[in-house]
Amino acid sequence: MAENAFRAPRGTRDRFPEDLVLLRHLERTARRLARNYGYGEIRPPLFEETRLFTRSLGEASDVVEKEMFTVARRGEGEEEGAGWTFRPEGTAGVARAYVQGGFAARAPLQKWFYLGPMFRYERPQKGRERQFTQFGVEAFGSASPLLDAEVVDLCVRFFQALGLGEALEVRVNTMGDPADRERWRRALRAFFEPRLGGRCADCRSRFERNVFRLLDCKVEACRRDNESAPALREHLGEESAGHHRRFLEALQALGLRAEEDPGIVRGLDYYTRSVFEVHYPPLGARSALCGGGRYDGLVEEVGGPPTPGVGFAIGFTPLELALQELGLPPQEDLRDLQEELRPQVYVVAITGGERLPALRLASRLRAEEGLRTALDAREKSPRAQFKEAGRSGARFAVVLGPEEHAACRAVVRDLQGGEEVPVGLEALGSWLRERLGA
Ligand code: HAM
Repeated sequence: MAENAFRAPRGTRDRFPEDLVLLRHLERTARRLARNYGYGEIRPPLFEETRLFTRSLGEASDVVEKEMFTVARRGEGEEEGAGWTFRPEGTAGVARAYVQGGFAARAPLQKWFYLGPMFRYERPQKGRERQFTQFGVEAFGSASPLLDAEVVDLCVRFFQALGLGEALEVRVNTMGDPADRERWRRALRAFFEPRLGGRCADCRSRFERNVFRLLDCKVEACRRDNESAPALREHLGEESAGHHRRFLEALQALGLRAEEDPGIVRGLDYYTRSVFEVHYPPLGARSALCGGGRYDGLVEEVGGPPTPGVGFAIGFTPLELALQELGLPPQEDLRDLQEELRPQVYVVAITGGERLPALRLASRLRAEEGLRTALDAREKSPRAQFKEAGRSGARFAVVLGPEEHAACRAVVRDLQGGEEVPVGLEALGSWLRERLGA
């Protein structure tokens, strides 16, 4: 490649037709599952007001602090948060659409899914890209813990449909309600205050700003100290404790093995009550294929009436890695999508005199007979065309020579068996369709 050649931006990938076979299989599996669980597709814009994300994901979240692709609004000042941001995730935009569409008043129960690109300015590494695809679902208007479990079920069934079931770990936790978290915050402050002398400088400065951050300090001595820190679980109110109990019960009723993991705190501020992640452990630190949970305060946060909600998003980048490692999905699951890349018929022109009739015939076979039909685009010799026809994977070569053209017929060569038969142009379409089972 020449030195001055352009390259795709770091952390992005070009997807060529062959690469899209797997991606399209993931997409159609996602659509099938979403349909079976009653989720309709929603396509909000790929960028939103920056403020939507700072407000809902939280000023102090890593995504907002470090990972947003933001552009300034032209001629509209440099005011903080006045720009546009390419969506780093889907939930905030979907909640905004729910409010803007007026659903809370006329049809509060809505179940939607989305499939598409998200953008995060992260350091590209295994399983992490700056543009990546998510399949997500969001259900608004129900506070039932049974719905939380159903959402986990949908997620697990999606992975099972791809052959991944056994290798996965479902981890669940509860984030409680805001009042629970306030009680917990106070307990944490009371716990850490007398111990600050023994903590690192970061912890001492974070203590005032955000005491929760002390819990994810990586310094060994601080980590040991954290082991005896109060847990949110001990501060849950009756309602959120009951919600969590019923969530676990429902998971059990669905036969879902879920591990309770108080370490699942999710990186975004909008979560309340149930949260969960699905991990593929061999991927290491970035093993989460899916993250989700309940966000009962989010709709209100973006300007709607109090409305509960729950959902998840699955990242296709780590999922593709996991599938690759396991040699999944089996080739036969992809066969029909691979087929689509192959022509069924290849039209060969013997002399220059048949170029235009061949062009016309190919057009007719495509449009009127619905056949995937290829034609030599480089005006090569008949020999080269036959070679190309063989390489293309087409089943039949339709050969037009001067004689055939004059007699309104073609010679059809079966590229698998080798036999040749003359077929009149009138009947050619149905002749081919019949043999191709098309
Ligand atoms: P999240 O945990 O930030 O949650 O992202 C969900 C999934 O997206 C992750 O588990 C991961 O698989 C994938 N992902 C995240 N960042 C990247 C990246 N840079 N490259 C590749 N994949 C990535 C959310 O986004 C929430 N909106 C999920 C949700 C929906 N919660 C409720 N509803």
